Amino acid sequence: MSQSLEGDTAIVTGSSTGLGRAIAEKFADEGANVVTNSRSQDRAEDTAEAIREAGGNAVAAEADVSEKADVEALAQAAVDEFGSLDVMVNNAGTTVEKHVFDQTPEDWQRVLDVNLTGTFYGSQVAGEQMAEQGTGGQIINVSSMFGSVGVQGRAPYNATKGGIENLTRCLAVELAEYDVHVNALAPGYVKTDLAEAPWGEEITEDREWPYYGYTEEHIENRTPLGRFGTLAEVGNCAAFLAAGDHYMTGEVMHNDGGWLAFGWGSKA
Ligand SMILES: NC(=O)c1ccc[n+]([C@@H]2O[C@H](COP(=O)([O-])OP(=O)(O)OC[C@H]3O[C@@H](n4cnc5c(N)ncnc54)[C@H](OP(=O)(O)O)[C@@H]3O)[C@@H](O)[C@H]2O)c1
Repeated sequence: MSQSLEGDTAIVTGSSTGLGRAIAEKFADEGANVVTNSRSQDRAEDTAEAIREAGGNAVAAEADVSEKADVEALAQAAVDEFGSLDVMVNNAGTTVEKHVFDQTPEDWQRVLDVNLTGTFYGSQVAGEQMAEQGTGGQIINVSSMFGSVGVQGRAPYNATKGGIENLTRCLAVELAEYDVHVNALAPGYVKTDLAEAPWGEEITEDREWPYYGYTEEHIENRTPLGRFGTLAEVGNCAAFLAAGDHYMTGEVMHNDGGWLAFGWGSKA
């Protein structure tokens, strides 16, 4: 592990779209060899191809992060292709947005399997590889500001993000002897497929679910910086953590425009 990303190898799970894609592209810009990932080889390849076209190094590997054998194969792909695994970003995530009374056992389990178990497998497998290499490493677990506070309709999502944050602390302590840092990145609202769905739709007064009438304007007013975060800003924070030029482990880096710092309900 060097103090920049030049020559390091990074896996970014769930990098076909959204935050993961932005992180993968940023890492490649900073000189990392990147393994992109998705449940679809074609979608992961789309990101890898864009990176290569921009002059970076990337290969794609299909894997479902909720399957341990898939995650092991993903780590092996990084080692086979680039010779090491230095940075693991456990970013793949999903949500089921329903009132708690309507969440089925399958809904609950699916979100846990992808978000929490996927992060556990990714950390476990990457940590083992990094320990074997003996060169340290950086594990970054993508949480959310909803790992610290609640919001209606996201019981499984909020539970997994809270779980990811304490898993991060536990693994930071456990993997410190291998100089493997484990940190979490907890973004606020960024417009992606996962978070963007309602923004283009008309919000009507009788629309009680799943957004309880929250509009883009409500979110901007609730955010001290007065706007959504950008994909580039998430990429920048991830790159800082990944470069390892810090004394941070077991930390949750919030990049939420001040949302969690704000004790009042709304600026407006
Ligand atoms: N957007 C936000 O405002 C926001 C805020 C805070 C935190 N986050 C977190 O950021 C992460 C990314 O979210 P996003 O907004 O970028 O969502 P997104 O655009 O829906 O992207 C989710 C990514 O995860 C992949 N994925 C889903 N299930 C997977 C699985 N089982 N195995 C492997 N890959 C899987 C998807 O790829 P395929 O569908 O191609 O498999 C896709 O690349 C999530 O952990 C989310 O909780 C997002």
